[in-house]
Amino acid sequence: MSVTSPAAAVIDRDRVAALTERQRAIHRERTAASGRMFARAAEVMPGGVPSQFQTGDPWPVYVERGQGARVWDVDGNEYLDFHNGFGVMCVGHANPVIAAAVKAQMDAGTHFAAPTEGSIAVAAELRRRWGLPHWRFTNSGTESTMDAIHLARGLAGKDVIVKIEGTYHGHHDAVMVSVKPPADLMGDRSRPASVAYGLGYPDAMVELTHVVPFNDAAALERLLDELGDTVAGVIMEPAMMNVNIVPPVPGYLEAVRALTRERGIALIFDEVKTGAAVAAGGATELYGVTPDVVCLAKAICGGLPGGAIGVTEELAALMADGRVRQQGTFNGNPLVMAAAQATLTEVLTDEAYAQLHAANKRLMAGCERVIAEYALPAHTVGMGSKGCVVFSSEPVREYRDYLEKIHHDLSDLAWLYHMNHGIFMTPGRDEEWTLSVLHTDADLDRYVEVFETFARDVTSAL
Ligand SMILES: Cc1ncc(COP(=O)(O)O)c(C=O)c1O
Repeated sequence: MSVTSPAAAVIDRDRVAALTERQRAIHRERTAASGRMFARAAEVMPGGVPSQFQTGDPWPVYVERGQGARVWDVDGNEYLDFHNGFGVMCVGHANPVIAAAVKAQMDAGTHFAAPTEGSIAVAAELRRRWGLPHWRFTNSGTESTMDAIHLARGLAGKDVIVKIEGTYHGHHDAVMVSVKPPADLMGDRSRPASVAYGLGYPDAMVELTHVVPFNDAAALERLLDELGDTVAGVIMEPAMMNVNIVPPVPGYLEAVRALTRERGIALIFDEVKTGAAVAAGGATELYGVTPDVVCLAKAICGGLPGGAIGVTEELAALMADGRVRQQGTFNGNPLVMAAAQATLTEVLTDEAYAQLHAANKRLMAGCERVIAEYALPAHTVGMGSKGCVVFSSEPVREYRDYLEKIHHDLSDLAWLYHMNHGIFMTPGRDEEWTLSVLHTDADLDRYVEVFETFARDVTSAL
């Protein structure tokens, strides 16, 4: 899954800084209309964006439209889209199958806040894919992980939650802890500090969330022993997806499953990113470990805002009689259900997953060829429709590796090269690509071509 390049070239930091300056200037010039839109937007939206994740330097790129594997920005630049809406758009933009399903539902009414048959079909399909017997719907990944934690606490009658250092699970109080803690605040690895991710999270809440490094079952065992019978549950992404991609080491998820089961505490897999993007049954299928709760959102609804949680019989009973109040006006909205049903049963079929896996393999192989040819200090990691180039010669196994081992300036520069050469990438040095079923081999090869331009410029003699 991860290939390390032999004998990496020494990277000239001054050269990287000079190239970054040049590419920044090109980016500013190419996106001047976005700059003007940003000035307007900043008057009415904090930071000029609807969500903090959409900020950009010097401004966000404002998008006008998308079709298939392409998007166009307000300057008229055309891009091949590897950002794909933070990994939502595995179906591709303006997919006619999704459009027809949503249009048909639109004509039959948009919203009733009463159950419709579509929700039964989607719940049944999620059950088939993940094997968990009962499903409820939410409106986002944040709501999915929030409901999961309420359920874990409700079942256990305990308040403490354990999460992985460096992971993001949405922006509710219980999980906005040690998301990207700064090195000077994160404490010793043997007992990481709980660090609030921004203002507005009460200390009393932050103290209820404890953190451990990823890929270290012994550290989790020590923490659970220390916390004793105060713990309600453990929440984790089965593969970390916000510090590039960090897969679980063999045996880790099995060990976590055994530790949580022995103690009778809930294991929550946050599959908001991995979900329907890495396999039909997500990372749960890929790694063969089933948690007590699966949290979904992003790719399952084909571009409409929605999420879901899948749970055991025991947890389902808590919702069925309302002891844990899982609710909301828009949950199971008919438009979202129509899009989810079309996504899961018509577009993201078994053949589509085979296609996505093959496409990802091709893209990773292309990047690996470039890495080897130019002796970049980098390797690729990927699964299903998702992958990335990690700018480190060594494998990254946890958040602290990500802080210490990665050439972050190369990640930033690669982003600029891609954007300036028509490859739309997720903002943020720590992200990954997501492929859609509408990407062609030519699209993938173009990505590799641009990556090679970057590699040649970074490594060529001054
Ligand atoms: C792993 C994970 N969990 C939860 C969330 C929150 O999802 P949302 O932005 O839909 O609230 C995200 C968002 O990026 C995520 O990556």
